Amino acid sequence: MTGSGSAIQSTAKRSEQYADLQLSLAGLLDGEQDLIANAANFAALVYHTLPDLNWAGCYFLRGEELVLGPFQGRPACVRIAMGRGVCGAAAQRRASVLVHDVHEFPGHIACDPVSRSELVVPLIRDGELLGVFDLDSPLPGRFNEEDRAGMETAARTLMAASPG
Ligand code: SME
Repeated sequence: MTGSGSAIQSTAKRSEQYADLQLSLAGLLDGEQDLIANAANFAALVYHTLPDLNWAGCYFLRGEELVLGPFQGRPACVRIAMGRGVCGAAAQRRASVLVHDVHEFPGHIACDPVSRSELVVPLIRDGELLGVFDLDSPLPGRFNEEDRAGMETAARTLMAASPG
C-alpha cells in the first residue's frame, strides 16, 4: 500500500531529502553570519526542498513572546505568547514538538486553516533560546521522527552559521 499523495514516504527518500538539505545549507550559509539573512535563506531552502509544506519559517523570541521572522508561505500570525500554540509550546519546552493532527493539539493557532500537521524545532545558540522554526503541512501525519531529527540538525547548522 502506498497511501495517497506523499504523506507516506519511504525512509530512503526522506534521508535523501535531509542529506540534500544539509549539503545545500552548507553552501548557502557559507561566508555569511547575519542571522536574518541566513534565516531567510534557510526558510526558503526548507520550503523548496521538503515536499508537502504550506508554510516554513521562523519566530524569534522578543521579551516574553515570539515574533514572526523570515518565512515562506501565506502571511501568518505576528505574535505568539510563550506557551501558546505549537510554537509557544516548543519555545517553553526548548524542545521540538511534532503534531500529527493539529485538530488534536489543544491551543493550536490556526494561521492557515489548510494546515493539518506541524513540526516546530527550537533555535538555541550557546544555550540561549533565540526562537523557533515552524513547518506546516496540509497533509495529516506529514512529519515523523526522521523529520524531527533532520530539522534539529538543520537548525543547529543555522545557529552555528550565525554566531551573533
Ligand atoms: N500553528 C502555529 C502558529 C504559527 S503558524 O502555523 C505559521 C502554532 O500553533 O503555534
